[in-house]
Amino acid sequence: MNRYRIATIPGDGIGNEVVPAAQQVLERAGSHFGITLEWNELEWSCEYYARTGRMMPANGLDTLAEHDQIFLGAVGYPGVPDHVSLWGLLIPIRRAFRQYVNLRPVTLLPGIDSPLRAVPEGGIDFVVVRENNEGEYSEVGGRMYRGTPDELAVQEAVFTRRGIERVMRYAFDLAGRRAGRLASATKSNGIIHSMPFWDEIFRELGSEHPGVETSEYHIDALAALFVLDPARFDVVVASNLFGDILTDLGAAIIGSIGIAPSANLNPEGDFPSMFEPVHGSAPDIAGTGRANPLGQVWAGAMMLEHLGHADAADAVMGAVSHVLAETGVRTPDLGGTASTSEVTDELLTALETEVADR
Ligand SMILES: NC(=O)c1ccc[n+]([C@@H]2O[C@H](COP(=O)([O-])OP(=O)(O)OC[C@H]3O[C@@H](n4cnc5c(N)ncnc54)[C@H](O)[C@@H]3O)[C@@H](O)[C@H]2O)c1
Repeated sequence: MNRYRIATIPGDGIGNEVVPAAQQVLERAGSHFGITLEWNELEWSCEYYARTGRMMPANGLDTLAEHDQIFLGAVGYPGVPDHVSLWGLLIPIRRAFRQYVNLRPVTLLPGIDSPLRAVPEGGIDFVVVRENNEGEYSEVGGRMYRGTPDELAVQEAVFTRRGIERVMRYAFDLAGRRAGRLASATKSNGIIHSMPFWDEIFRELGSEHPGVETSEYHIDALAALFVLDPARFDVVVASNLFGDILTDLGAAIIGSIGIAPSANLNPEGDFPSMFEPVHGSAPDIAGTGRANPLGQVWAGAMMLEHLGHADAADAVMGAVSHVLAETGVRTPDLGGTASTSEVTDELLTALETEVADR
């Protein structure tokens, strides 16, 4: 029996709706593949912050380190500034556990119409590898002369050779296992120190990987190509901020931000990795029972795969594809009328068929 201890942080808003939905699906898949998931639910959230003044306890990272993986919903809620929720929880976890790869698949699933015109089934299928530990998300900087006409803010981006190399090596390896094409997001025309450095390292590593076809795009042109010609991409490697923005666009072209998953990986397995949907806590629909659980479920499938259970992950994704393509049961963000729990029930039924067919 494979037994895993999973720290669960549903967080805020719809995180509390989609995490339990995904847990049901993962448990059901686990029961068929000899996997036991022991969930340890942690109440860390903006509500917890309002009570305690912290997003997580002072020893929160030590607590998380006792688990195999982390399964997170979303944090953020009106009344708590977004930089507090992000820097009080997500960013410390990503950094302390060296989750330097943020893997975000952008795949048009069967049965979903892209908002782009005339995208055939399978016409969007790429992965964004976002650098997750440094870059533009840096606490180096400061504010001066607050409240005076001279007030100013300085924010430094931090790019290290070690940080760039490790995420790019991951992206080259991934491209080598996929269609063999790797695109790099740059902006070396305008950002004249860090981005030429990024480009130099990309070219160095490119010469070590002759089997991977490389290309480089300025981020603005790359964003346009995600819309105009998404089939061109296989793997895209990007800095922290560029990857973040690109993957919201990626989520939009695959039909809804409610579907898109994200894995914060410590590839070496020295620390737990963290799996979450791309979307946030969606305060506008929280509590209405209409949140799409598929992004959280897909993130869960990525967790199963990372744990070494590709068969269980495939069964979960098979159930997702079946529900989308065959049943018409979908939440309002995808043009349907179903609730979170109705979609979850369909997934559980579809999973039985998926498993029986294997
Ligand atoms: N990783 C995270 O925890 C994370 C990520 C992004 C935003 N946030 C936080 O979430 C809060 C809201 O941010 P936002 O509004 O910019 O982004 P959001 O992703 O929460 O919502 C954007 C839009 O997409 C819709 N949406 C999102 N997920 C959906 C789902 N599963 N099903 C159906 N519709 C869905 C929402 O209703 C909203 O209209 C903020 O506090 C922000 O900081 C957290």
